[in-house]
Amino acid sequence: MDVFEKIEAFRQEIENYSIQDNGNLEEFRIKFLGSKNILKGLFAEMKNIPNDQKKQFGQSMNALKKVAEERFESAQQQLTKEERKEASKNIDLTAPGEPRFMGSRHPIAITQNRIIQIFERIGFTVAEEREIEDDWYNFTAMNTPENHPARDMQDTFYLKNSAEMLLRTHTSSVQARTMMNTKPPIRIIAPGRVYRNETISARSHCQFHQVEGLYIDKNVSFADLKQTLMYFAKEMYGESTKIRLRPSFFPFTEPSAEMDVSCFFCKSEGCNICKYTGWVEILGCGMVDPKVLENCGIDPEVYSGYAFGMGIERQAMLRYNINDIRLMFNNDIRFLEQFKSTY
Ligand code: PHE
Repeated sequence: MDVFEKIEAFRQEIENYSIQDNGNLEEFRIKFLGSKNILKGLFAEMKNIPNDQKKQFGQSMNALKKVAEERFESAQQQLTKEERKEASKNIDLTAPGEPRFMGSRHPIAITQNRIIQIFERIGFTVAEEREIEDDWYNFTAMNTPENHPARDMQDTFYLKNSAEMLLRTHTSSVQARTMMNTKPPIRIIAPGRVYRNETISARSHCQFHQVEGLYIDKNVSFADLKQTLMYFAKEMYGESTKIRLRPSFFPFTEPSAEMDVSCFFCKSEGCNICKYTGWVEILGCGMVDPKVLENCGIDPEVYSGYAFGMGIERQAMLRYNINDIRLMFNNDIRFLEQFKSTY
């Protein structure tokens, strides 16, 4: 057999090679395309070919190599196609789908959003501010004197190496920030996280959330405050809700009050929630102290205003019957997935 006959024999072998599976494919690759392939031996015969046939020999060898490459590729494609077909045979179209879990909002977010929406409907706009605050905005501007107990290291987290910077203890700092930046009339609602250096228990935590309200304009009166709070209480806790204002004290409001709402659980019949008093305490409020207006560059002779601040956790706990505030911050899915809301 001369070399050309050998080439033709290989070509036939390549074309007729039986490739049924990936094992055959690999054998084929090693035999005809691998680094020690069988065609290399034939190439070595180049030196024995008469010069006038060398060119034809070279071309035939290249063509042979190409045949092997093409056979390999088409066989490989065919096998992959068959594998896919085989795999798709195993799909059970009647099997039930994988369950998809719906995300849910955090009870604090739900409660906060409800409060915000109620005030937005009567023209309040949301103001958000920093949690790391200057002592001045948190205390001094808010008429809280140097030696006031609220400034005690027990209550306030101060930043390391700084007597000036702290984690805000209430959202009232947003009042000062807003008054410093905006000309009256001002009508804001300020939600956010606050911090107090308190022992963590079922009832209190070192972090919680508040919503602050501030309204400043000409001729704002206590009657305006009361009416606004009554509207809020009815929207939040139901049309039949009553409110009660008790005299109180805050350094930044004068006069000051605390607001109770009639117990929405027992309709004031007396229950665990209201401790059989018929009332639940919801917020602190009052007329902005003229000293605060002055501190923040607003003329108390021209303007007056009211402010209020409420905790969110307590309201969420009352609403959803949650008995431990720590649940709010543990991020346990079993707890969180119980809250479904469009708010
Ligand atoms: N900042 C007060 C608190 O944290 C609440 C408050 C806000 C009271 C505004 C009056 C006016 O308890």
